[in-house]
Amino acid sequence: MGNDGTKKYHILTYGCQMNVYDSEVLSGYLENMGYDHTEKEEEADVLIINTCAVRKKAEEKVFSRLGKLRPLKEKNPGMLMVLWGCMVQQESAAQKVKEKYGFVDLVAGTHSLGRFPDLLEKARVSPRTILDLETEEEREDLPIKRGHKAKAWVPISHGCNNFCSYCVVPYVRGPEKSRPLQKILNEVKELVDNGYKEITLLGQNVNSYGKDLDQEMDFADLLNILDHLEGRFQIRYMTSHPRDFSEKIIRTIQHSQKICEHFHLPLQSGSNNVLKLMNRGYSREYYLGLVEKIRVLVQNSSVTTDIIVGFPGEEEKDFEDTLEMLEKVRFDAAYTFIYSPRKGTKATEMKGQVSSDIKKKRIVTLNEIQSRISMEINQQLLGTEQVVLVEGRSKTDPNVYTGRTRTNKIVHFSTNENLLGMFVNVEITAAKSWTLTGNFKNKVTTQESGVRSQNEKTGENI
Ligand code: 5AD
Ligand code: SF4
Repeated sequence: MGNDGTKKYHILTYGCQMNVYDSEVLSGYLENMGYDHTEKEEEADVLIINTCAVRKKAEEKVFSRLGKLRPLKEKNPGMLMVLWGCMVQQESAAQKVKEKYGFVDLVAGTHSLGRFPDLLEKARVSPRTILDLETEEEREDLPIKRGHKAKAWVPISHGCNNFCSYCVVPYVRGPEKSRPLQKILNEVKELVDNGYKEITLLGQNVNSYGKDLDQEMDFADLLNILDHLEGRFQIRYMTSHPRDFSEKIIRTIQHSQKICEHFHLPLQSGSNNVLKLMNRGYSREYYLGLVEKIRVLVQNSSVTTDIIVGFPGEEEKDFEDTLEMLEKVRFDAAYTFIYSPRKGTKATEMKGQVSSDIKKKRIVTLNEIQSRISMEINQQLLGTEQVVLVEGRSKTDPNVYTGRTRTNKIVHFSTNENLLGMFVNVEITAAKSWTLTGNFKNKVTTQESGVRSQNEKTGENI
């Protein structure tokens, strides 16, 4: 509680952007109930940990954090401690919490968002941990407190039907459910009216948007409608599945103005054997064809990826296939992961589990090669001028700003003007694998911001 008697909340969020969004909804509820946000967890009357289950490491972090929070709860028994989200949606993890961390007041999974106020009240009066792992959910018209003033995230679908064999998401977030178009449109329009400059559409597989809806509507149609909304803003989307990235989507982006030329296409592995075992539904040849199509149609675009090393059955030859794909595609950046067995997924049961030593060696090799490629690509930007949406300031020096190019590259630059939330031109003066540095030139006029000109983007038709 604050010195002035106000009730406070603090939320720790692990995992993906969808979790960040869910935490924004939890914040919205708490603010409506009269709570204020606090940066200090020891000051909180309600402390929420929003968990992730994608890799074991994420779960270990939560348990270690819980251990450290135990004395805080003992000192302040009136504090309500809440464990939320993907990790606890798994029966085994929820049981472990109940048995070993009985001081937690409420344990609730991803589907409980619409029930949060009731659950919190129940937890307040119950001497025992309240567990809510129901799969029924209501996700429309919930309150929200956005964490950023210029960038906003808007879910277009929830859940996933793909069952990639390593992935726990379909088990913890349930089957794919697209949001009705009108709900998405209303949310985006309101954000743009309120001055947001970047909208990121969220879903586990955004490319399959609309398949479960009554209306004839796919992801390309949705992008096209949003691109034609009034206002100076830009559009991103995550995450894509290469199998569902249709030519119609690419052509929509080619002819759009607001959609950023950044293609995040998780490859996962460059070996056809491993891709099959992963149940990804595409081959390396298909993937190379897709990237080529994108590069011909949408010029000046960037392509990034996710890669898992040490998937069961990944032999040296398969790993070399992945390295070869790095050289063939030349990704702007790659997010690399060591395979982590997840209970309940098919891959956990597969033979040929790779030793921890080999996994570690492979990820080091992979990162070295990708680092060099990213550096080479970024060096080509030296001396160019880039449009950057200014996102924040450096914690150590308020005159150092950070932003991103439309291709999603991080740029640092210095100025003493207040530029937060603006589109600016920056001349690139230094380039590393993950970040660019530059000189601030000028603010982008309203004519240009969030929009690219037709001649900049349209490649040859293929
Ligand atoms: N082990 C390691 N990485 C994983 N990912 C998903 N599941 C696992 C797992 N079990 C990675 C994938 C995905 C990214 C978000 O996390 O690369 O694209
Ligand atoms: Fe997981 Fe595959 Fe669904 Fe992505 S598409 S959330 S990797 S099952």
